[in-house]
Amino acid sequence: MAPDESNGCPSPAIGVGPSYRPDAEKPTATVSRKVEQSNVHILPQTPQLICLLTMIRDKDTQRADFIFYSNRIIRLLVEEGLNHLPVVPHTVTSPVGKDYAGVKFEGKICGVSIMRAGESMEQGLRECCRSVRIGKILIQRNEETSLPKLFYEKLPPDIKDRWVLLLDPMLATGGSAIMAVEVLKSKGVPEDRILFLNLIASPEGIKNFAEKVPKVRVITAFVDQGLDDKNYIIPGLGDFGDRFYTL
Ligand code: PRP
Ligand code: URA
Repeated sequence: MAPDESNGCPSPAIGVGPSYRPDAEKPTATVSRKVEQSNVHILPQTPQLICLLTMIRDKDTQRADFIFYSNRIIRLLVEEGLNHLPVVPHTVTSPVGKDYAGVKFEGKICGVSIMRAGESMEQGLRECCRSVRIGKILIQRNEETSLPKLFYEKLPPDIKDRWVLLLDPMLATGGSAIMAVEVLKSKGVPEDRILFLNLIASPEGIKNFAEKVPKVRVITAFVDQGLDDKNYIIPGLGDFGDRFYTL
């Protein structure tokens, strides 16, 4: 895919730290680009998130640390993703006999990971949603053409009646994630019941995804600068699956 004009455009750099701290005491760091697509929710660019992303972007970070810090970001994504599910009123009585007007989640959910890298996000989902059902879609991006190929899918039989948390840490051209959404739609899942949880996205991927499947909500930790000539995200973190599973 030819890079669009957003390729190479620097991401914003701002002083990172709590709002009450003087600017002079805040180190400057690169934060996520803002995007115009209304279906995209970018995690708040807190010092903690920027620290975690700095760790996993570092080429010298070893696998054990890469897994540990990725898992922490994944947990933030899952927690934020759950905020986008519908709730209904639910009142409970506390041990001192007083009512508390709260809410509870409505509806059933499931996770669907885009193998292989997306499987790394299953544990974070399970930590928040005990015994959640998880489907798998094996899509592989061709190393020469960057085009996605679907090899396999195994999904919960009642998936059309569930909210789907679609899991993949990298959104580069967007081809793999779009293909995964098409698989879910072919099983009867409406677009607006899919939440795509993602660590790092490119502006090109965000644009393609929003054009093809505009009702899918994207929860991402960071929108990066662009894509290189091999359609790797820049600055990115390299090949997520290799760094999490094999390197
Ligand atoms: C990576 C990544 C996404 C895809 C993103 O997977 O996990 O699925 O590439 O690229 P795209 O947006 O251009 O489609 P890859 O196919 O390399 O397989 P892996 O999970 O085994 O690393
Ligand atoms: N897949 C990855 O793991 N990283 C990229 O930058 C692009 C696709």
